[in-house]
Amino acid sequence: MSRHIVRFLRRGRLVERRGFAPTETLLEHLRLRERALGTKEGCAEGDCGACTVAIGRLQSGRLAYEPVNACIQLLGAIDGTEVVTVDDLAEPGGRLHPVQRALVDAHASQCGFCTPGFVMSLFTLYHAGVRADRAIVNDWLAGNLCRCTGYRPIADAALACCSGEADDAYAKRAAETARRLAALAEGEDDLFTGNEDAFFAAPSTEDGLAALAARFPDATIVAGATDVGLWITKQLRELPRIVHTGRVASLHEIREEDDRVEIGAAATYAEAEPALRALDPDIGEMLRRLGSKQVRAAGTVGGNIANGSPIGDSPPVLIALGATIELRLRDTRRTLPLEDFFLDYGRQDRAPGEILTRIVVPRPGPAEHFRCYKVSKRYDQDISALLGAFRLRIERGRVAEACIAYGGMAATPKRARNAERAATGLRLDEPAAWPAAADALADDFSPIDDHRASAAYRMRVARSLLAKALAEIAGRPSAETRVAGMRERAAA
Ligand SMILES: Cc1cc2nc3c(=O)[nH]c(=O)nc-3n(C[C@H](O)[C@H](O)[C@H](O)COP(=O)(O)OP(=O)(O)OC[C@H]3O[C@@H](n4cnc5c(N)ncnc54)[C@H](O)[C@@H]3O)c2cc1C
Ligand code: FES
Ligand code: FES
Repeated sequence: MSRHIVRFLRRGRLVERRGFAPTETLLEHLRLRERALGTKEGCAEGDCGACTVAIGRLQSGRLAYEPVNACIQLLGAIDGTEVVTVDDLAEPGGRLHPVQRALVDAHASQCGFCTPGFVMSLFTLYHAGVRADRAIVNDWLAGNLCRCTGYRPIADAALACCSGEADDAYAKRAAETARRLAALAEGEDDLFTGNEDAFFAAPSTEDGLAALAARFPDATIVAGATDVGLWITKQLRELPRIVHTGRVASLHEIREEDDRVEIGAAATYAEAEPALRALDPDIGEMLRRLGSKQVRAAGTVGGNIANGSPIGDSPPVLIALGATIELRLRDTRRTLPLEDFFLDYGRQDRAPGEILTRIVVPRPGPAEHFRCYKVSKRYDQDISALLGAFRLRIERGRVAEACIAYGGMAATPKRARNAERAATGLRLDEPAAWPAAADALADDFSPIDDHRASAAYRMRVARSLLAKALAEIAGRPSAETRVAGMRERAAA
């Protein structure tokens, strides 16, 4: 049975929307429909954070708030959640929320255009149950840009108010909100608003999703919409039929087995991060720099693969780890090595109506060493110019097997087969021989020049990353090779 109304909680009330455009964003709903004008539009592409709102969901039965960019979040995708915006925080009579009070006290706002977004990101940190230190605050706010005030007073405000214990109206009614969200999820039904020509659909089961995607092969599959949202706001594309994967619980599952990790295609980065970080600390560091807290709360590993981008961060990492993916067309499932999914620029091995369902990532074995390095112009929240991922099996001081993949070096994320061959057999105590492997990269890639990096720069950095991986695996102190992620690597 299908439900034709999107439902969510706002200010303690149930909001119901029907008959909306499939591409309507949450920001459009808030500003144009509700006239809740505190939430601002800045970039309309997920970069500046001015439109940040908090989304409340049940996580293991408890209410948890995550920050999302309302400008690229589709309205239909927030079905079954609580939406909190900057307009909702002050108490009747104008008493400010502790986060707002801290920002005022620290003189942390001037023009105030960015401020609503900072307030809402900090609201989610306030509720995260962690005592914030400067590193946590910097990470949490990486998706919020301020051009007037400067970040020091904003970070000071965060440190002053985010002590790990939430004591506001939202904390006081958390049990009641959780109960209402659980009631909304009861009898999980399919969501279908619109008609066959134009709809937003969000099936609740994998079978329903596969059937709908096959029935409408021209529909746009949407997971977190951190890519698709920009097709709408920047490319002004008409997307009349939208099939959302986010309500299928089995596609959010993360299974950690002894020899592998399985990730459902609709699992967000935030959901998948603990299992991926446990595979290797470099993956945790890569994820920390992938987008922002807002992007990771909505975006998925599945979307990062399915979009086929040559500069997506997770594909080269997963290829180097030997990942396979599962695809499903109606009732037929097939698996293939991830590297074979990418055929050419913008072309993947996916039939119309076929959906990505799962990613299976083998754990590196005891003799295997893994490294990955993201190189981008900005350190935080920036797309890679280049990403190198390396899995080397070392036996008796020699490279017995090498699996090396790069993003940003070709039209697709791609293995460096020639460099792999040249690296095999190298001795870790003979660094003078290592450049032979780097030389072979010239047979693997003819990188492009673009605004992110020149071809010469890409090749030079690709060589350096391979040398860096070999040096680190050979046991050189990390301080010689990196400025970040040292503590995590040392603890591994
Ligand atoms: C501000 C910002 C910063 C970003 N930073 C980074 C970054 O640092 N590194 C990086 O790699 N990316 C980055 N991205 C890009 C984006 O966040 C990622 O590519 C993300 O993983 C996309 O996932 P999604 O769930 O949002 O995909 P969506 O936008 O929902 O979909 C992306 C594509 O995948 C398809 N798709 C999704 N799920 C399925 C499925 N189950 N079956 C078949 N097709 C499917 C969609 O049809 C679409 O073609 C950034 C984006 C923004 C807005
Ligand atoms: S308006 Fe800039 S992130 Fe949404
Ligand atoms: S106060 Fe003006 S951009 Fe932050």
